[in-house]
Parts: sequence; structure tokens; C-alpha cells
Amino acid sequence: MRQSLVIANWKLNGNLKLVDDMVSALASARCSADVVICPPAPYLAALETATQRLNIEVGGQNCSVYSSGAYTGEIAAEMLAEVGCKYVLLGHSERRALFAEDDMLIAKKVQLAQQAGLTAVLCVGETLQQREAGKTLDVVKAQLSEVLNDVDFNRLVVAYEPVWAIGTGETATPEQAQEVHAAIRQYVATFNTDAASKLALLYGGSVKPENAEILFAQDDIDGGLIGGASLNTDQFLAICSAVK
Ligand code: G3P
Repeated sequence: MRQSLVIANWKLNGNLKLVDDMVSALASARCSADVVICPPAPYLAALETATQRLNIEVGGQNCSVYSSGAYTGEIAAEMLAEVGCKYVLLGHSERRALFAEDDMLIAKKVQLAQQAGLTAVLCVGETLQQREAGKTLDVVKAQLSEVLNDVDFNRLVVAYEPVWAIGTGETATPEQAQEVHAAIRQYVATFNTDAASKLALLYGGSVKPENAEILFAQDDIDGGLIGGASLNTDQFLAICSAVK
């Protein structure tokens, strides 16, 4: 039985009021999925404190490729773990596009995160241009391969986030998403067949209450990585409840 997981990626949004509102809303919700909230780092401690008696985990949105030292502005994986994080997003398309993160750097971050005891949520996905060129699976496999060569599968989740669906309202169809998820699971099996069958694969990219159920019903979709809709308590709870 694979883990069902819904992760909220607040990106550079939110505040302490949203922490309170989201925790209050989730406290009375009945979600069969595991729920993780990834706020901007300044809110991690408040969120961890507020969720300690709830079945909700907190996560980081990134971690440094360094463990400690003179790296102003960086946040180490060990520091995320120390304040109660159990997960960290790595390789998000915005990190790749806006902060020049490549597959080798991301693979190193995955290793550091896992060494710190965190579960790494590895984000992969193609641009519209790559999809239209028929390169989707080539791109996704290349993004995976650097990590899969040396990874702890027990501390790995993969999130497929087609870049053209992120923040656009252009959600992948269930068929499009399932096709890539199945291909990811098949590719992981070439590294470790047992791990492939157990690996949680999340879909991200304009997941909303109205499309969550049919997406999460797909054979190889085990939950979602939610951006915009995770900033609205009603919408996020509806998405969490869509996981069966
Ligand atoms: O990491 C999740 C995010 O990239 C998806 O954003 O707003 O399309 O749900 P959104």
C-alpha cells in the first residue's frame, strides 16, 4: 500500500494568520491522506508548534547544498530537521528556472536532506516547448537519473509538475498525468523494482477542488503537490478530502 500524500507549497506567500487559519481548518478535517505544509521558512516554527497534536507534518521548500558555514541566506537540511520538518521540496521548476539549479546540484541536495533524516520531495517536469517537441519522458528521466543513482528510496517522494501547468490553470488531463506517472514508476523500477512499486508519486500543476478527485483516482497518482489552492483553507481541505 503506497502512501497517499497531499503537500501544500505556499511558495513566497502566507503569514502567521494563514498558519492559524489553516491549522484550525485542518484540525477539524477528516483526510485519509498524509498532509504536509511547506510554508516560507520564517513560519516553520509556528506551524510546527501549532500542528504537534495533529496528524500534519511540516516541510521546507528548499535546502542548501551546504551543511554549515559562511553561506549567507542559506538554510541547511539539518536546521529544517531540527525545527521539526519531515519533508523538503527539492528541484522545483521555479528553483531550476529562476535560481539556476541543475540536476547535479539537486541530487546533492537530496543526499544532504536524506542524511538529515528528511524525506526529499523531488520535483520533475517538462516545459510546454519540451512537451510539444515530444521530449516529456526524456526530460523527466534525465531529471530523475542523477538522483536515482544514489538515493534512499525510503526517504524519497517524486512530484511530477509539468511546468506549463504550474500557476496557469492549465491542468494536465488525468490521462496526460497518468501516462507520465506510469513512465516514472517504470523508470524507477530499472533502478529498484521493489522501491518503484512503493514510491509515492504526486501530481502538481493547477490542482483544484474540481479536478483533484479524478487526478488522484489515477493508478499511479498517489496525491498532489498544491500551490495556489493551498493558500485557501476551503480549497485545500477539499483537495485533501479528494484523496481516497
Ligand atoms: O509546487 C506546487 C506548485 O508548483 C503548483 O502550483 O499553483 O499550479 O497549484 P499551482
